[in-house]
Amino acid sequence: MDNKRNIRIFSFAASCAGERSHTAEFSDILAEALRKKAKEEGFDTDYECMTGADLNVSYCRSCSSCFVKGICPLDDRDDMPILKEKMLSADILLFGTPVYAWQMSGIAKSVFDRISYWMHRYDLLGKTCAVYSTASASHGPEVAEELAQLMGFTGAVVINAGTKTFYGIEKDVDETAGRIMELYKDRASGVTPLQQEAFIARIMLVRKYFKNLKEGEPVVNEMRVLHERGLDRYDQIKEAIADLT
Ligand SMILES: Cc1cc2nc3c(=O)[nH]c(=O)nc-3n(C[C@H](O)[C@H](O)[C@H](O)COP(=O)(O)O)c2cc1C
Repeated sequence: MDNKRNIRIFSFAASCAGERSHTAEFSDILAEALRKKAKEEGFDTDYECMTGADLNVSYCRSCSSCFVKGICPLDDRDDMPILKEKMLSADILLFGTPVYAWQMSGIAKSVFDRISYWMHRYDLLGKTCAVYSTASASHGPEVAEELAQLMGFTGAVVINAGTKTFYGIEKDVDETAGRIMELYKDRASGVTPLQQEAFIARIMLVRKYFKNLKEGEPVVNEMRVLHERGLDRYDQIKEAIADLT
C-alpha cells in the first residue's frame, strides 16, 4: 500500500480544563511517541490537539434531521462543523476523555450524540483511531473501552491506548504508538468482530431498503450515503477497508 509520507494526527481531548487538562497531557504524550515511531518509519507528522475548552458544543435536540437529511441544524450555531471536519480529515485520530463520575465527560458524550449518524453511515470507515481515558483511580479502562466501541461503530479502526491515572499510564505508550502505526499501514487487520457484525447488519438493511424502494420515492440520506459509497456491495467490512487503503 502506498501510504502518504506526512501523517496528520488530530486529537480531541474531551475535557474543558483547557491547558491544565490531564487528558490533553496524555494526548501530547501519545502524539510524541507516535511522532517518534512515525519518524523511524520515514513519515512526517502534523499534530493538533483541541480540547473541550476550545469548542462550543451544544446538546443534541433529538430532531433526527441528521439521520434523515444528513444535516444537523445546530451546526449553524456552534463549533461542531470545525470538529467534524478535523476528525474526518485526520489520518490518525486520537480521542480521549477524562472519567467523570464513572463515565465519559459530558462534552465527550455530546460529541458522540452529535455524530451518532456517523454510526449509521460509517463516515470514519477505515480511519485509524486511538482512544484513551484519564482518571484519578477508578473506571478508566471501562470508559476507554466504551470509547473504543463507539468509535468502532463509526467505521474507524480503533486501538485502545488505555488509561492514565495519577499512578501512571496503564499501557506502554511506545508499544501503543507502534501498534497505531501498524494499524495505520494495515487498517483492515484491526477490524473487530463486533464492528464487522454491526457493519454487515447495516449493509443488509441498506440492500433491503433499496430493494423495496418505490419509483420516485425519496431516499433517506443515511441509506443513500452507504449506497453511493458502494458499501452495499461488500460482504465484509475488512474488504471495504482494504479497498480504501
Ligand atoms: C467531576 C469529576 C468527576 C470525576 N470522577 C472520577 C471518577 O469517577 N473516577 C476517577 O477515577 N476519577 C474521577 N475524576 C478525576 C478525573 O477523572 C481525573 O482527574 C482526570 O484525569 C481529569 O482529566 P482532565 O484534567 O483532562 O479533566 C473526576 C473528576 C471530576 C472533575
